[in-house]
Amino acid sequence: MTNILVTGAGGSGGISFIRALRLAEQQKKLKPFIACTDHNPHFLNFPDSDAHYHSPRHDDPTFIPLLQKIIQTHNIEFLHPHPSSEAQIVAENLKQFENVKTYLPKPTAIMPDKLLIHNALHKKGVRVPRTVEVNTFADVEKAFKKIGSPLWIRARRGAGGRLGLKMENVEQARHWVELNTSQGRCKVSDFVAQEFLCGRDLAFDSLWYKGKLVTSYCRERLEYFLKHISLSGITGTPTIARTVMDEKIDRVGVDSVKALDPQPHGFYSTDIKEDSKGNCVVTEVDGKWHTTAPLWGYAFAKAFNKPELNLTYQYLKLALEGETDGTLPTHDLFPDNYLLVRQLDAGVMLEHEDQTWRVV
Ligand SMILES: Nc1ncnc2c1ncn2[C@@H]1O[C@H](COP(=O)(O)OP(=O)(O)O)[C@@H](O)[C@H]1O
Ligand SMILES: [Mg+2]
Repeated sequence: MTNILVTGAGGSGGISFIRALRLAEQQKKLKPFIACTDHNPHFLNFPDSDAHYHSPRHDDPTFIPLLQKIIQTHNIEFLHPHPSSEAQIVAENLKQFENVKTYLPKPTAIMPDKLLIHNALHKKGVRVPRTVEVNTFADVEKAFKKIGSPLWIRARRGAGGRLGLKMENVEQARHWVELNTSQGRCKVSDFVAQEFLCGRDLAFDSLWYKGKLVTSYCRERLEYFLKHISLSGITGTPTIARTVMDEKIDRVGVDSVKALDPQPHGFYSTDIKEDSKGNCVVTEVDGKWHTTAPLWGYAFAKAFNKPELNLTYQYLKLALEGETDGTLPTHDLFPDNYLLVRQLDAGVMLEHEDQTWRVV
């Protein structure tokens, strides 16, 4: 029996992570005991766990003591804080978790500020959007002069495309910045102005162990959930995405992770947008799981009955035993041109040409 604690397990990513562990239980005869937490009491029943606990938010002083209590009560061997905010708190306080195994990047590689990402990658020669730091609105005007239009104005912190919108001119940008600052969402200096990238919306997901790339895959986001009710069309996680095999994306993905963290250890997500010339430009790299990463592994492991494609299972094997089940390709873990199709309250399908697997 392997006793595992997954925190923040009530979100889509955490639910998929536990679902993938349950699939490994069937396919590999694992016997995990899974405890979980979430700060939303209503979402706590979603993950298929053996025990669940309502937790405070990550920044509450009782968060770590609660995790410790669960670890001791259930003899937890491996702690997986799933959301970035919770992973960061655990990574910052590893000294308090010496009684349990973890598999996390260093805290500075988790949820970094977009401007810091830009600067770190630029320094290492990784292509990033042309960027202007914003301290006052005059900097936005300066950005239009320096970069041209349109611009992409976004918040430096937060996820899901937070406060990101295409701006055709200074006037639009002024309205956007003023509206959001006057409604108390942010300060002017929380924004950053970047070159607008009109090309494909790509993601590179990679698993690393003590500085070495274990495996990775690329995909293209084709459509976001509820895109029609969002101003930018970006709502954080796609309803349709497809696997892509492309050495250029692989190279950029690997370089971006190494630029953020010279000794990568754990799971990393890179977001790449193509510019009008088809260049891969990195908009974000973060030591976190993209929401659908555990689901992709689950879908292929289930549809093909190949447990080795289950990223969550391989991640657990590495965390517990320091090696994967079988040798994995460092790139293109999944075959090309498969679509993962998800819809609210409707389940998940894997599609390829005229074949469809209903995986959830
Ligand atoms: N400069 C840009 N031009 C056009 N779209 C962008 C730009 N930067 C980000 N985006 C879009 O916003 C999405 C979210 O941005 P990302 O950099 O991944 O940060 P986060 O996910 O933390 O919000 C990207 O996947 C991309 O679709
Ligand atoms: Mg992103």
